Amino acid sequence: GTLRSRCCKVRCVAAPAQEVTTGVKRNENIGKLQAGYLFPEIGRRRRAHQEKNPDAKIISLGIGDTTEPVPKSIADAMQKAAAGLATLEGYSGYGAEQGRGEVRQAICDRFYSHVGRKANEIFVSDGSKCDIGRLQMMFGASTSVAVQDPSYPVYVDSSVIMGMTDGYDESSKGFGKLEYMVCRPENDFFPDLSNARRTDLIFFCNPNNPTGAAATRKQLEELVAFARKNGSIIIYDAAYAIYISDPERPQSIFEIPGAEECALETCSFSKYAGFTGVRLGWTVVPEQLRYSDGFPVINDFNRIMTTVFNGASVVAQAGGFACLQDEGFKEMQELVAFYKENAAILRTTFKELGFSVYGGEDAPYVWVGFPGKPSWDVFAEILERCNIVTTPGSGFGPAGEGFVRASAFGHREDILEAVERFKKEFGGR
Ligand code: MLT
Repeated sequence: GTLRSRCCKVRCVAAPAQEVTTGVKRNENIGKLQAGYLFPEIGRRRRAHQEKNPDAKIISLGIGDTTEPVPKSIADAMQKAAAGLATLEGYSGYGAEQGRGEVRQAICDRFYSHVGRKANEIFVSDGSKCDIGRLQMMFGASTSVAVQDPSYPVYVDSSVIMGMTDGYDESSKGFGKLEYMVCRPENDFFPDLSNARRTDLIFFCNPNNPTGAAATRKQLEELVAFARKNGSIIIYDAAYAIYISDPERPQSIFEIPGAEECALETCSFSKYAGFTGVRLGWTVVPEQLRYSDGFPVINDFNRIMTTVFNGASVVAQAGGFACLQDEGFKEMQELVAFYKENAAILRTTFKELGFSVYGGEDAPYVWVGFPGKPSWDVFAEILERCNIVTTPGSGFGPAGEGFVRASAFGHREDILEAVERFKKEFGGR
């Protein structure tokens, strides 16, 4: 006993922990990023607030994470698939890297055959965020990129990590070489394309995360014409397309003639059927989409998927297939309708309180204006006064400054409690 404690003491004093390094140089592109990924950073601030106020009942309108159970017929299908794995007949190992044929066909039948897409153009995956990373790997570091500003942080951060940008510029609050296409109330949240620089890739999220704006047919026609004129490829993120109710606002970029020659589309079951934890999405790459030398992009995406992906989970794919059957599809639409009611409740409340409110009609995000105030300060104030987590607009890009995003994903009682707290704290602001 004494000997051991003496040894320990000696070691602690005489040999302070020496930092051991490897010979590997850090990827300087990752070093360009300013902070951690947005949502873990928000989680950190939430935990700090909870530690300071242990009794606070914090409500999250922050990260867009689904809260309601997976609909029954869909969960049943996954249960059955999981149980099947324990039997000789139901067991399966690796599947096709592109996804099961019947799942690709069902996605096509539900969402794409009326706009000319084919099942072989659909690649089933573990989600859009992952596909965005793989698309970046496919296009490579030497492509130039445009994003909507504000935008889903994955487009920007993955472009930085890949080396498609220069460093962060403190004065513009953006990364060099990246084209920020400003989307604010003044331009109906649709970029002024007459002033946009040509880039190889255009990330376009519609309905938009975070502003909740959904583009009209005419606006998307403009976008497609712009991409075609410049020989650009649109990476169209339709993760919230099912939230669109206005028939004048397309749900797929392929509703626009000519898009098949300048766009690919990624989508996900996450916000459709509560699959944020289950993980299932897809990307559509039209056969007609070509590189400058005429080589089909679909061949390269197939090469990427077969190389760094081994196919989506068989259990998740059984769930996805059930989502696309009549019963599952109906259940899924009811789930979406529930979140849309939440969005309407939030929207109405902020309006009644006299804020400028955008989004929340064709999207699960409500975009609330706090002009002249840094949005991280607004975030902190709402957390402090209401015990409610939001997402600061500037976390989505420089043009998000002056706004916060409220997510409509939540239990109804939490949404109702949240609006009561807003009314109490901001009623006489
Ligand atoms: C968000 O809050 O923006 C979502 O979590 C985005 C995502 O699906 O990754």
